[in-house]
Amino acid sequence: MAGKKLKLGALIHGVGGNISAWRHPEVPTDASVNFDFYKSQARKAEEGKFDLVFIADGLYINEKSIPHFLNRFEPLTILSALAAATEKIGLVGTLSTSYAEPFTVARQFGSLDHISGGRGGWNVVTSPLEGSALNYGREKHPSHDERYEIAEEFLQVARGLWDSWEDDAFVRNKESGVFFDPAKLHTLNHKGKHFSVQGPLNIARSKQGHPVVFQAGSSESGKSLAAKGADAVFTGHETLEEAKAFYRDVKRRTVEQGRSADDIVILPGIGPIIGRTEAEAERKYEEIAGLVSIENALNYLGRFFEHFDFSQFPLDEPFPDIGDLGSNSFRSGTDKIKKQAKEKGLTLRQVALQAATPRGEFFGTPEQVADRIQLWFEEGGADGFIIHSNIPSGLTDFVELVVPILQERGIYRTEYEADTLRGNLGLPIPANRHTLENVRG
Ligand SMILES: Cc1cc2nc3c(=O)[nH]c(=O)nc-3n(C[C@H](O)[C@H](O)[C@H](O)COP(=O)(O)O)c2cc1C
Repeated sequence: MAGKKLKLGALIHGVGGNISAWRHPEVPTDASVNFDFYKSQARKAEEGKFDLVFIADGLYINEKSIPHFLNRFEPLTILSALAAATEKIGLVGTLSTSYAEPFTVARQFGSLDHISGGRGGWNVVTSPLEGSALNYGREKHPSHDERYEIAEEFLQVARGLWDSWEDDAFVRNKESGVFFDPAKLHTLNHKGKHFSVQGPLNIARSKQGHPVVFQAGSSESGKSLAAKGADAVFTGHETLEEAKAFYRDVKRRTVEQGRSADDIVILPGIGPIIGRTEAEAERKYEEIAGLVSIENALNYLGRFFEHFDFSQFPLDEPFPDIGDLGSNSFRSGTDKIKKQAKEKGLTLRQVALQAATPRGEFFGTPEQVADRIQLWFEEGGADGFIIHSNIPSGLTDFVELVVPILQERGIYRTEYEADTLRGNLGLPIPANRHTLENVRG
């Protein structure tokens, strides 16, 4: 643990990840499509020396989706703009492998990585929502297993494409007229079950080699994909015990793949609620929770279960038995909701309200929140955290009140160590596979 520093990301999600947070007096009602809002949040995170900003995404909406999902920026577009408005902070965007082509995606993230000077990152997701198929001319949403199989091949292709050019391939000699060295240009010629991609890619590696690959998805298949091909994992846990078990499991799987445990960073998402006093934290929580009606909470919960209509069940009786519902979409999340409801004997109302306005254990005074963070970090539950808040001052509170405590305790940086995202996350630069072959002869 000595010397190892905590990593931090900021999830920016416009009018909030909660169904009613947009009504909070502090939230600009157009925040999800307001560039100035994103810019100020990203700069606030950079002021707090955060490793990265994180943009989540989805490919299907309907009238029950939360307000932020209805009208929001496409991740790579907003991140490219933020690249020009920031200097050091990493820029991580979500893009689904279930509804895209690896050549395009490798090129897009390669471009973001160059535009930002090596600060780009891709959050690989498999798209939980069945309706996504309807927006992409597909007859059927692939099953959970198939989505992960596609994701694995997709990622292999993307990494292969990113190595199309060796780092010294571009000679650019005006006198000799030699622009590049053909021996350092490599064609992928991938022919697999799901993709056929010749290559080479029409953009070279950036100074961090490959964009940082995140993986979000915590099922068995998700963990296995992370171990094989990801540099970082975005996950979510309610207790330290759960976080530790997940952390150990992913690190073990990564080592089994012949990688080092330090080659992957695990970052659970947390939504701290911070007050100068406990009473102030309580008041802040009530302000947000009080905006959520039970109807809204039921809609919010339903989305995780393929937009299931929970309003048909009595609110104050035990959470209904809904069988396998949800396992083809947000599997790890829906499994957890069902398990907890059963174990704790929760009613439908309790489950819905908890999902819509989780209170979590990162709650209270800045010292109390810093204590929790330190505990999770030092006990092996996390390498760092992705911070999200339903109101803009949540990030400000964290940066201004919690960050100085973490710095004082010596577990968080006071200056950026590097100017690439990989460098700050302490991740190795992946060697170009062709350069490696040349070196090995
Ligand atoms: C913490 C976390 C964040 C996620 N973020 C996104 C996202 O932004 N967009 C998306 O389409 N899916 C997202 N997912 C969904 C996963 O990519 C995946 O499609 C779904 O959760 C099923 O995978 P799992 O059962 O392995 O978790 C997220 C999942 C988790 C656990």
